[in-house]
Amino acid sequence: MSHGAEQVLEGRGGSDYERYIRTDELLALQKAPDEWLHRDELLFTVTHQSSELWLKLAIAEIGESLAYLRDGRVQPALRLLARVRMCIGFTTSQLDMLEQMTPWDYQQVRKALGHGSGFDSPGFAGMRALIPELGEVFFARLEAAGLTLVELFTGVEANEDLYQLAEMLIDLDEALMGWRDRHFKAVERTIGFNVRGTQGTPVEVIGALRDRKFFPALWDVRSTLTDLADDIL
Ligand code: HEM
Repeated sequence: MSHGAEQVLEGRGGSDYERYIRTDELLALQKAPDEWLHRDELLFTVTHQSSELWLKLAIAEIGESLAYLRDGRVQPALRLLARVRMCIGFTTSQLDMLEQMTPWDYQQVRKALGHGSGFDSPGFAGMRALIPELGEVFFARLEAAGLTLVELFTGVEANEDLYQLAEMLIDLDEALMGWRDRHFKAVERTIGFNVRGTQGTPVEVIGALRDRKFFPALWDVRSTLTDLADDIL
């Protein structure tokens, strides 16, 4: 539908908005009501599809920020990584919507999923592949600067860029732990604890993996600083 203005773009849809955003294609990506096993398939699909879109943006921004970092440009990389942090946050808060299903309604939605599981999410797979590369670039820059982590953290003013990059990495690690924690709770609330997922994973396994860290050294340095402070301050 168009509201009067002349359309200048090519594509499907009556208005430039629909043609540019590709709303026809986008809104055809969910099953129609006559295909549903249960009406909450729409809620379930919209939540997952929008998470995949936010993670698609996150992956693109990590790729671009890696290129900046390899070129020695920390500030523009940080600007893009702030977006990544937000994308993870949106994915986390969207889990609230899944808790609007009753556990019994979800059991019926689940029958439509086959062996479909978040383990095979392209968005999360891309994040798992790329986030460690951020750590590699950071530690290479730290070494090139001739610094240890303790020296960086006790001499922030002299190495502001590197310090802010370290903090961004820990922000991302913390955001992903926040997602895992929230996901685990949503899963436990929906299907319970002593049960298995659509790919056979016991729910307690995803509970146990909540504290996985991409950058353990950046967490460990906090303990080292506490010990150091006890010794010298
Ligand atoms: C009612 C909602 C949900 C339930 C009951 C659920 C359940 C599960 C279960 C049981 C697993 C373990 C693997 C298996 O399936 O056997 C799992 C893993 C996973 N799920 Fe979900 N999930 C839900 C929503 C979501 C959403 C919205 C996402 C976001 C795209 C997601 C992403 C993942 C990922 C990435 C994993 C792999 C574990 C990890 O990387 O920590 N899940 N989910």
